[in-house]
Amino acid sequence: MAIATYQGRSILLAPSILAANFTRLGDDVRDAEGGGADWLQADIMDGHFVPNISFGPLVVDALRPITACLLDCHLMIEHPEDYIGDFVRAGARNITVHVEACRHLHRVVQQIKAAGATAGVALNPGTPPAMIEEVLPDIDLILVMTVNPGFGGQKFIESSIDKIGRVRRMLERRHRDDLLLQVDGGISAANVRKVVEAGATCIVAGSAIFDHHAGIAAAIEEFRSALR
Ligand code: DX5
Repeated sequence: MAIATYQGRSILLAPSILAANFTRLGDDVRDAEGGGADWLQADIMDGHFVPNISFGPLVVDALRPITACLLDCHLMIEHPEDYIGDFVRAGARNITVHVEACRHLHRVVQQIKAAGATAGVALNPGTPPAMIEEVLPDIDLILVMTVNPGFGGQKFIESSIDKIGRVRRMLERRHRDDLLLQVDGGISAANVRKVVEAGATCIVAGSAIFDHHAGIAAAIEEFRSALR
């Protein structure tokens, strides 16, 4: 159940649990699901690919029995190929790896799909879309990072709007307009419409949802209203 449709495309919302209150993670997840979240994104960080350490498969495994949301693992780690099985066994249904962390990206995408998850590839702000054009036939999602990865609560990089549009046109050109175009970083009800108008179809948001003064459900409703 998407939070909106735009030009015939379903728009999915994937709250990032990185910003959740970890003293009540289960309650925050239930509130996000009750508010209409479609996916939940787990931001996995190893302190090497990004200058921060978050959590691993243990947290994904703990969440699986309490939510019907699709669990989406964004691996901001070196050697993601070594951990795909662990995250799929923990309950990940989508796994996104960074093109910058994969010497053999095509092989890693095949590995994710062989493990039974859908495969996403992420682009850091400094990485051109052409870097993933060769795997377009094989993937299910492209993640355009709209901040430099590693931390929640950062400022949206405005030049991302142009990049989202270029990725959308690349998908149309390569007849992969069906792929999910996910965006992540600094997204709120104030800018979600412009990222969707540029071509995004899956919205990751952490602080705008879990840090909202009026609560999680109200935050999600603000996103929905911004896309009406
Ligand atoms: C960065 C993370 C964040 C997070 C969303 O590595 O991927 O972008 O998911 O953070 P907010 O929505 O708080 O910017």
